[in-house]
Amino acid sequence: MSSNADLASRVDTSDEWIRTRTGIHQRHLADPGQMSSDLAHQAALQALSAAGIAAADLDLIIVATSTPDFIFPSTACVLQAKLGAARCPAFDVQAVCAGFVYALDIADKFIRSGAYKRALVVGTEVFSRILDWSDRGTCVLFGDGAGAVILAAADRPGVRASVLHADGSHAGILSTPGQLCGGKVTGDPFLRMDGQAVFKLAVRVLDEVARETLALCEMQPADVDWLIPHQANVRILDATAKKLGISPAKTIMTVDRHANTSAASIPLALDVAVRDGRIKAGDKVLLAGVGGGLTWGAVFVEI
Ligand SMILES: CC(C)(COP(=O)(O)OP(=O)(O)OC[C@H]1O[C@@H](n2cnc3c(N)ncnc32)[C@H](O)[C@@H]1OP(=O)(O)O)[C@@H](O)C(=O)NCCC(=O)NCCS
Repeated sequence: MSSNADLASRVDTSDEWIRTRTGIHQRHLADPGQMSSDLAHQAALQALSAAGIAAADLDLIIVATSTPDFIFPSTACVLQAKLGAARCPAFDVQAVCAGFVYALDIADKFIRSGAYKRALVVGTEVFSRILDWSDRGTCVLFGDGAGAVILAAADRPGVRASVLHADGSHAGILSTPGQLCGGKVTGDPFLRMDGQAVFKLAVRVLDEVARETLALCEMQPADVDWLIPHQANVRILDATAKKLGISPAKTIMTVDRHANTSAASIPLALDVAVRDGRIKAGDKVLLAGVGGGLTWGAVFVEI
């Protein structure tokens, strides 16, 4: 764990600035030897245990990450081997902070098609590896982590509706623009961001995609028991909940303890709220993510 005070000892920032601008109090940073697949492995084991199934029962593994272990093989394949879930298909999805809702939607569609019965969907990131620790405008915002869910075929509703979007014309406002050339990363290998542009777009598209998703199943924001937006920044979460007319008391907020963990933020928040008893079976939960690309999407699910 790394507190804001810890960061202030290495970067020109303060606990007060970080808390008031972002709501972040602390973040977890992976040890140098830990990779995305290691964090994913821990999250996957907990999800399997909560679902009461064995890794060998999985038909599909999808990992959302923008900080994979390797260029290839995919982190999903590395995870599959760590779990001992041989032979089931495994692949990564790269949609940055919207990665988890992308992966969940893909898994849901595979299950609906009848192709697979049990899918493991993981969001995992070690963003600390792509942060410029001399850039106070970005390095204080992110953390490392992983979260996972199991999706299973059932006659209960589960995922009620989902919508994904992307607009590559905004690629420049949030990116890690380094390129691979001759076996090396050339150019800028660190995360760069136009914070204010991202802020404005994020609030707009989260509100739009939440409404679009709810409309698909003839629901209103008032029908949502719990809103779990991507945990980027408390001000983005508050503004999104306010635009939707959803009370802060129904909005799950874990950015204070995890910071922005990109594809891991939504499943981590879901995990916290399920384990502390707020989210219960039968609750209607709206997950909404936005990230670099720009990518965004929402999944409305009955737990
Ligand atoms: C990043 C963000 C918190 C910055 O807040 P802001 O109000 O836009 O702040 P600015 O970037 O305009 O900077 C304001 C001042 O704070 C300073 N500052 C920036 N980071 C700082 C830090 N960590 N500590 C102290 N001061 C800092 C700036 O240098 C600037 O100083 P100046 O006025 O002397 O030039 C805000 O833009 C944001 O939340 N954006 C969305 C980011 C995000 O969530 N991205 C991921 C989405 S998936």
